[in-house]
Amino acid sequence: INRIGVMTSGGDAPGMNAAIRAVVRSCAYYNIECIGFKRGFEGIIDGDYMTLNARSVRNVINHGGTFLKSARCPEFKTKEGREKAAANLKAAKVDALILIGGDGTFRGGLALSKEHDIPVLGVPGTIDNDIFGTNFTIGYDTALNTVLGAVDKIRDTASSHNRLFFVEVMGRDAGFIALNSGIGSGAEEILIPEENLGLDRLLNSLERSRRSGKTSSIVIVSEGDKIGKNVFELAEYVKENLPYYDAKVTVLGHIQRGGSPTCFDRVLASRLCVKAVELILDGKRDIMVGTIKNKIQACELEKALKGKPSINKDLLRISDILSV
Ligand code: F6P
Repeated sequence: INRIGVMTSGGDAPGMNAAIRAVVRSCAYYNIECIGFKRGFEGIIDGDYMTLNARSVRNVINHGGTFLKSARCPEFKTKEGREKAAANLKAAKVDALILIGGDGTFRGGLALSKEHDIPVLGVPGTIDNDIFGTNFTIGYDTALNTVLGAVDKIRDTASSHNRLFFVEVMGRDAGFIALNSGIGSGAEEILIPEENLGLDRLLNSLERSRRSGKTSSIVIVSEGDKIGKNVFELAEYVKENLPYYDAKVTVLGHIQRGGSPTCFDRVLASRLCVKAVELILDGKRDIMVGTIKNKIQACELEKALKGKPSINKDLLRISDILSV
């Protein structure tokens, strides 16, 4: 192995810069060249890359976003797109490619490896934490803390005005952010895609809260929840059925994707990416590095893509008990 390529792809996540830095510095340490492709697969298709050395990644560990930029790339989903990308990777003499991103990124990388024999290695970077084969993805911890900061502020105004707030958080198909930020912020109810507890239960719970003397409440709603109503419809529905509630909605949106990464995410990114480079040097390919019970472990990309990360549903029970 003489040269490793690195890229960030899909939704960005805080800690991606720390991850790129760790790839680049590990390459420097082991005397391998490193090049960074811009805008994920788009940059590979366009042959848009930059040479990276240890000093190229100075002062990036603390920054959110990704200096290599990121994109979702429909062209890479086509065989022709991947052919162009493979030709550019070969022309750039890339011996292996490190992909920092989520499941869409890994799916694309695996196709590239199978069709064009280019070794790839995945590093899980997404705020959603929805990747099998790792307990934590890069960016998740920062996003959780961003949500907590925002909900704490909402709680202040909710309490002053005796209001009920529905707060929508990210998580297209997974409730990790909702569930854990819900517990952390002391939410009344948490709605996640993995468990549809139904509208009646929500009404009963809010009614019970009011009777028990609560004057304001927070309900955390995952954007992918399956209750059948979006967060605005949900607030209207509650107002119709429980008219004494002054219900408001806040959609936190993309603020969850930005910000300086927490120490946890910086350390996670550093550990995963040093290991990623070492595994490539060891001749491994088509795997993803993850952390299980605080040990860095590799898992086949195929397996990571087929598996479903399991959510700790006991947290719903904890939430129920604590919102009495
Ligand atoms: O995959 C991460 C994520 O932040 C999801 O939670 C969210 O649904 C999606 O990305 C938003 O994507 P986009 O950047 O395309 O708006």
